[in-house]
Amino acid sequence: MKAVVLTKSGPPEVLQVRDVDKPIPRDHEVLIKIHAATVTRGDAILRRLNPLVWVLMRLFMGFKRKKVLGHELAGMVESVGKDVKLFKPGDEVFGTTSGLAMGSYAEYVCLPEDGKYSVLAPKPSNLTFEQAAAVPIGAMTALHFLEKANIQNGQEVLVYGASGSVGSYGVQFAKHFGAHVTGVCSTANLELVRSLGAGRVIDYTEEDVTESGPTYDVIFNAVGKISKSRLKKALKQNGVYVSVIGSMAKETHEGLVFIKELCESGEIKPVIDRRYEFEQIPEAHRYVDQGHKKGNVVITVPYAN
Ligand SMILES: NC(=O)c1ccc[n+]([C@@H]2O[C@H](COP(=O)([O-])OP(=O)(O)OC[C@H]3O[C@@H](n4cnc5c(N)ncnc54)[C@H](OP(=O)(O)O)[C@@H]3O)[C@@H](O)[C@H]2O)c1
Repeated sequence: MKAVVLTKSGPPEVLQVRDVDKPIPRDHEVLIKIHAATVTRGDAILRRLNPLVWVLMRLFMGFKRKKVLGHELAGMVESVGKDVKLFKPGDEVFGTTSGLAMGSYAEYVCLPEDGKYSVLAPKPSNLTFEQAAAVPIGAMTALHFLEKANIQNGQEVLVYGASGSVGSYGVQFAKHFGAHVTGVCSTANLELVRSLGAGRVIDYTEEDVTESGPTYDVIFNAVGKISKSRLKKALKQNGVYVSVIGSMAKETHEGLVFIKELCESGEIKPVIDRRYEFEQIPEAHRYVDQGHKKGNVVITVPYAN
């Protein structure tokens, strides 16, 4: 099968299309024919990670450097191991190779049906493979941090970095939970963030949100481009600050099934900025490296025969 292989750490050109062995599912694994993947901010960070850091991550956290990057995917189950219960051949699925397992820049991937190294669920029936691939990480991350903040109906919630992948889902979940949402983004994204459900938008190029005084019950720093100490000035007394920086979101099968249902009811929708062909993954990385994608960048994986 074809895969986009990380030949060494470095700029986008280190990613190259190669022929690699098609994986064979073990007893507890599902073999998925991937129809679409994404390039996330995390993929871009891992691509350029210093090899020494990989060694330390392997020693202290057990993460191995993988040849094939890519976390998010949507596709069809081709075959399953004998112990798999949740899926069968022909099922359309979406999910993520969780826990830095990686491998979605390929025509096929084998994943455990559920557990530490994958989160899979039936694909939302109303979404295309490309749309579905753009959901899992951003949506599960936003859901995790807003639940951690114990978000409540009627609260004032600020989503800082509302136009990125995590932020765009953050606005939609906050709205779903009944909050009054303020989204912070740049001028070009004001309309997008409004359309996602923010009742108020703040252009960070024009206004300093930290000068508005104590205003918010919950502040979700969804992009990590501003310090905790600055943002906390805008928190009400007893308000809660949560951030994508500093801890990993918990990704669960139940969470992804909940997200699937919200996609199907139309409450949550992916924002897709750009689409690239499989061979254009280096170009997609170049774009993501700029740090200004709106929502998600999707990769179409060619159909293997
Ligand atoms: N903790 C976890 O488990 C977890 C999980 C997933 C992701 N993350 C982290 O979460 C962060 C966001 O990920 P993502 O995928 O959502 O990123 P992303 O989509 O690449 O973020 C891009 C967005 O950031 C906005 N942005 C850039 N500079 C900004 C600034 N100074 N102020 C406000 N917005 C700004 C851009 O809007 P403009 O063009 O308008 O500037 C753009 O829309 C990353 O650091 C990622 O590594 C953490």
